[in-house]
Amino acid sequence: MSGRPRVLLTRRWPEAAEQEFQRHFEVTLNTSDRPMTEGELAEAMSEFDAVCPTVSDTINATVLAGRPRASLLANFGVGFNHIDIGAARAAGVAVTNTPGVLTDATAEIALLLILMTARRAGEAEREVRARRWAGWRPTHMLGASVTGKTLGLIGFGRIAQATAERARLGFGMTILYHARRRAPAELEERLNACFCENLDELLASADFVSLHVPGGEATHHLVNANRLKAMKPGSFLINTARGDVVDEQALLKALENGPIAGAGLDVYANEPSILPEFTARENVVLLPHIGSATAEARVAMGLRAFENVAAFFEGRTVPDRVV
Ligand code: DGY
Repeated sequence: MSGRPRVLLTRRWPEAAEQEFQRHFEVTLNTSDRPMTEGELAEAMSEFDAVCPTVSDTINATVLAGRPRASLLANFGVGFNHIDIGAARAAGVAVTNTPGVLTDATAEIALLLILMTARRAGEAEREVRARRWAGWRPTHMLGASVTGKTLGLIGFGRIAQATAERARLGFGMTILYHARRRAPAELEERLNACFCENLDELLASADFVSLHVPGGEATHHLVNANRLKAMKPGSFLINTARGDVVDEQALLKALENGPIAGAGLDVYANEPSILPEFTARENVVLLPHIGSATAEARVAMGLRAFENVAAFFEGRTVPDRVV
């Protein structure tokens, strides 16, 4: 390649990360900071050497069709279910992500949702803001205790493990997990985590079920009507993973009729649109996909993506290569 690689950042990134890119590459920024259309993304693939998308960009087979000039998609984020990996492979486009640097931030949001759902924090805050609070009384706004309860994790990657650690150390929770593969004994021991090969067994025992699977075809509607029915009466579903892991219509029914008591959601099937029935319910906490939204994590994600792009074009081993 003659000259500096041409790189597109599809959204505005934290300044420190944008500047690092600008020091090394010929960078184009999406100054309007709105999601790019399929047509714009397809055009970008033939205009730039690397495109750096986010979860708000759908990189499908149409975007990757033809013979793209771009040889790298360096994703800003750990999840990459918005990228058609098969189509990228077929088009000869490498894909990287940013694991590790947003683990703590996302585990914090999982814990936040556990606490908010159990202690009815959203509902309570709405009451205060609406000036409906009538003062302290013994039976007002009673929630469920978190301390000493059982947390069931579906998926047991970095974020699940960080959630388990905080739940165990901070709240003395019992940890169960279900994953495709059992974790090494020393990890189970360190986190005091118990493997449930049978998912229904975990669902029937956990007071909080927290999702930590990647999203996409393999986990589509993993939490469906039957799985929701299998959950312990009065339990809570927490989703900081991907919206399509949950059948949202089935979840709405379960929020209305049980057996679950509530849900805490940071992700949705069709972001940024949210089923209106969710916003009408008090027993669901709704966050706008802020799992990794700390200044520290977002800078680290940008710098990690930079490191992937730099390694790729300098012919070094690319740290976080997915394809
Ligand atoms: C991630 O890193 O996957 C976050 O959900 C943002 O994309």
